[in-house]
Amino acid sequence: MKLFDVYPINPINIVKGVGSLVYDDKGTEYLDLYGGHAVISIGHTNPHYVKRLEDQLRRIGFYSNSVEIPLQTELAQKLGKVSGKEDYQLFLCNSGAEANENALKLASFHNGKKKVIAFRKSFHGRTSLAVAATDNPKIVAPVNETDNVIFLPWNDETALEQAFAGNDISSVIIEGIQGVGGINVAPESFLQKIRSLCNELNAVFIADSVQCGYGRTGKFFSHDFAGVNADIYSMAKGMGNGFPIGGIIISPKIQPSYGMLGTTFGGNHLACAAGLAVLEVIEQEELLNNAATVGGYLIEELTKFEQVKEVRGRGLMIGIELPEELAHARKELLNKHHIFTGEAKPNVIRLLPALNLTKAHADRFLEAFSTVLNHSTVTQ
Ligand SMILES: Cc1ncc(COP(=O)(O)O)c(C=O)c1O
Repeated sequence: MKLFDVYPINPINIVKGVGSLVYDDKGTEYLDLYGGHAVISIGHTNPHYVKRLEDQLRRIGFYSNSVEIPLQTELAQKLGKVSGKEDYQLFLCNSGAEANENALKLASFHNGKKKVIAFRKSFHGRTSLAVAATDNPKIVAPVNETDNVIFLPWNDETALEQAFAGNDISSVIIEGIQGVGGINVAPESFLQKIRSLCNELNAVFIADSVQCGYGRTGKFFSHDFAGVNADIYSMAKGMGNGFPIGGIIISPKIQPSYGMLGTTFGGNHLACAAGLAVLEVIEQEELLNNAATVGGYLIEELTKFEQVKEVRGRGLMIGIELPEELAHARKELLNKHHIFTGEAKPNVIRLLPALNLTKAHADRFLEAFSTVLNHSTVTQ
């Protein structure tokens, strides 16, 4: 049997990782500013994380949601404390798409309505409704097509008001910072407008925090910068530092009932142990502060490069927009300087490193980036 060939891959076999460094099978060291797509939040093979998972695996790895799993309650309490949303309720699943799927479904159960507002350049995942709310027709199969999703331009309050006026809206789903769409920060006033229209017209505000959440921006949820609460926050990626776990936290105004949502694997013992270890490290090592400080430093330094068109983002979620002539920069960073970064089309380098990235590692990147840009003939 061969693999179903859907990923364009780099010919690199990573066999080991420590903190923000990874190593291939030939012993070459790479600086990881991609975090396996924003997943590695507390660094590769963090000792506390490894121990908690090992200990849990020796006791029990999995049992279903038909029995008590106190680790789930422990995780909910810890998450409430670290995120500041202590009165919210936690539902656990396994991925970001699933988290959004459940969020959209729950909103519709809650208010009995069907229409969803999503935004241009959004990415919410690849399951049925999550992909329908994703602004990329290439990944929407005919079976996923629906007229229940209305796409609006980013940060257009008039379009938002008009969509609410003309439709019975169930929910609005928005990333606090669009990731796949190119690191576009949602303006605070826009999030506040969504909040007030949702209040007025009984719609559910869904904050997709799969990529921009979990401390990455220096606040636990990037939507928090707007000073308003969403009704549902979806999470995954950094939540398990590589162990597949996702979830939604749900405002107390939304009531559960038996059978409303469900999953076989979600919230299993091993996933909860991973989730707890991540939050413990985030708390103990004050990683939100580190993300804000090292991220702020990177953003400040990056804006000084005159060849860079724009630097966007917050904390350790950074987009560096380059002119077309410098489109090769990301490949060069990887092949010549052994630094992993992410990308967004057409020419945005995305930095999504672990939240405990050190200043020394940030400097190592800046130096390499400078070499890449300054050995290029192009200036803006
Ligand atoms: C904002 C956002 N939402 C949802 C998802 C989907 O998450 P997953 O790939 O875990 O299903 C992603 C993945 O990149 C994402 O960036």
